[in-house]
Amino acid sequence: MSKHSRYVSVILIGLALATLVAACQAPTPTPAAPASKPAAPASKPAPTPAAIPVVPVPASVSEMLKGTTTTPAKTLADAGQKAFVACTACHGEKGQGNEFGPSVIGVGSNLSTAGNAQNLFAFMAAQMPKDHAGSLKPEEYLQVTTYLLLNNGLVKADDAISPAGLAKISLKP
Ligand code: HEC
Repeated sequence: MSKHSRYVSVILIGLALATLVAACQAPTPTPAAPASKPAAPASKPAPTPAAIPVVPVPASVSEMLKGTTTTPAKTLADAGQKAFVACTACHGEKGQGNEFGPSVIGVGSNLSTAGNAQNLFAFMAAQMPKDHAGSLKPEEYLQVTTYLLLNNGLVKADDAISPAGLAKISLKP
């Protein structure tokens, strides 16, 4: 081997070693920054219910309010529980309230501020569901009203409920 080619070999081996060392030391790729976590679901408390205002009876339900046929509260409430699906987005599965609407059943509910059941009914028929006011049928408002009354202990399961009789059901504690 000539002196010259020996130098070349030494340089080549050196280069090879250097490459090897460099490869071994190559920094491990930094893991991609973790995708920012989705915001934790807001768990804001239900807003404190304000007093239910006295509202004029909406025309859509005024005819129905003359009805004197009675139905046991439990029967109406069972139907009302189904109709209440229109309300759960803002009042919770069990009416307990969520960040979008106040409690309407149990702790924190304030239904007695409606004064009597007819005004509670009129308020809901006029203003609820808040994003689709008046979208339930008149009889569904009666059913939902009775569902809320029964679950708040404001009527009893076998009470005879009629549309015309709502005004006589006082909600004052
Ligand atoms: C889009 C949200 C939303 C939906 C859906 C909704 N509500 Fe409400 N509800 C509210 C809010 C907010 C209030 C508080 C008063 C207000 O802002 O008008 C309220 C208030 C009430 C109140 C008075 C509570 C109190 O003590 O002041 C009753 C009763 C009620 N809603 C019943 C219902 C019923 C029954 C349904 C379904 C037919 C319904 N709501 C659907 C948002 C909603």
